[in-house]
Amino acid sequence: MQYLLPVLFIISSWLFIPLTVNANQTEPTPGRLPVQPDLRHEPVQPLLPAKNLNPGKLTLGKNLFHEQRLGRDNDMSCASCHLLESNGANHRHHTLGRNGVELDVNTPTVFNSSLNHQQFWDGRAANLHEQINFVVANEKEFASNWPAIIKKLEQDATYTLAFNKLYADGITADNIRDAIVTFERSLITINSRFDRYLLGESDAINQDEKHGYQLFKSYGCVACHQGSNVGGNLFMKFGVFGDYFSTKRKLTNADFGRFNVTGNAADRHVFRVPSLRLVALTAPYFHDGSVQTLEQAVKVMAKHQLGRSISDEDVSSIVAFLKTLAGEYRGQPLPAIQRQKQPGNKP
Ligand code: HEC
Ligand code: HEC
Repeated sequence: MQYLLPVLFIISSWLFIPLTVNANQTEPTPGRLPVQPDLRHEPVQPLLPAKNLNPGKLTLGKNLFHEQRLGRDNDMSCASCHLLESNGANHRHHTLGRNGVELDVNTPTVFNSSLNHQQFWDGRAANLHEQINFVVANEKEFASNWPAIIKKLEQDATYTLAFNKLYADGITADNIRDAIVTFERSLITINSRFDRYLLGESDAINQDEKHGYQLFKSYGCVACHQGSNVGGNLFMKFGVFGDYFSTKRKLTNADFGRFNVTGNAADRHVFRVPSLRLVALTAPYFHDGSVQTLEQAVKVMAKHQLGRSISDEDVSSIVAFLKTLAGEYRGQPLPAIQRQKQPGNKP
């Protein structure tokens, strides 16, 4: 056989027939056109920047996102929990809300959240506008109401001027939400290495990362995590194979997921499939923040979502692929910050 191969190779090159046609082959051969993989129909698609966002509303929305007067005690803004200078979330297991009380679930990132079909782990908000109403009313978050918030903003001449310029009816709950949502829609992390690969830059990711992507497809992760946000568009049970929750010491209300919204028994432990776009930067993992490392999260997924055990090599390649999905915000890569150890914060 070892003799036959070179002979075949010589014959094949003589006949101008390539011995192997590799879909990933991108090296141009002299005298022939390079074989570019066609990546237009992949289950993962590149992120595109949001278009036609009103610049005035964008600036106003950004200010409101950082406005601590939205909270009842004037000391909490959206940005208190969703750190834009890091991963659009934070690294606590459960973020601390008002009076240092832990929130019920791990905080997801606001980056790319405008692409999710519903908001929250259990999808109880139909869209970003509704999501803000939940923050305003939540006793552990803003603990407020719209009339109180509007009254505070009306006392600020800068806000009054800005709203009157942009909206015919000035400061209203609708307009506050509209400005914040405009800002959130701008939070798209474009230009990741993986997207550059999809858009034709064949060496934007290396062989191991390409292999990880093939495994991500062949194991079946793409059945749930797909599209430009690599998730965020389906509801699925956590624990398709084996009961993931039987290993937990104590179930919380939040562990029932979508059941809390619909009351339907079939929705027990059903969650909105999260986006994996920034997953390399948003440890710890899962709705309960129970898993510390991406490697462990991938193992749990293979076992409980696909009924497969997975080798350490394959886990490491999939993790390498997942790390290529994180893009940039305002032309800068998002930094991976160290997990803060906060008082009252579980490991
Ligand atoms: C005290 C911390 C805290 C504050 C303040 C806060 N959030 Fe969140 N945010 C969370 C947590 C925790 C969740 C997940 C809750 C859930 O899924 O039940 C979340 C979820 C979200 C989501 C849904 C993301 C997804 O993938 O489903 C968006 C969008 C969001 N927040 C935006 C905002 C905006 C806008 C504000 C300000 C109006 C805000 N948040 C204020 C902690 C906070
Ligand atoms: C049947 C659907 C399904 C399949 C298949 C699936 N996942 Fe998931 N994935 C989910 C759901 C649902 C969650 C949210 C679980 C929770 O915390 O409640 C999730 C969460 C995750 C998380 C944690 C995200 C975060 O921000 O906390 C990672 C990482 C992940 N999946 C990777 C994978 C990988 C890798 C594969 C393939 C080995 C895979 N998933 C297969 C549905 C699926």
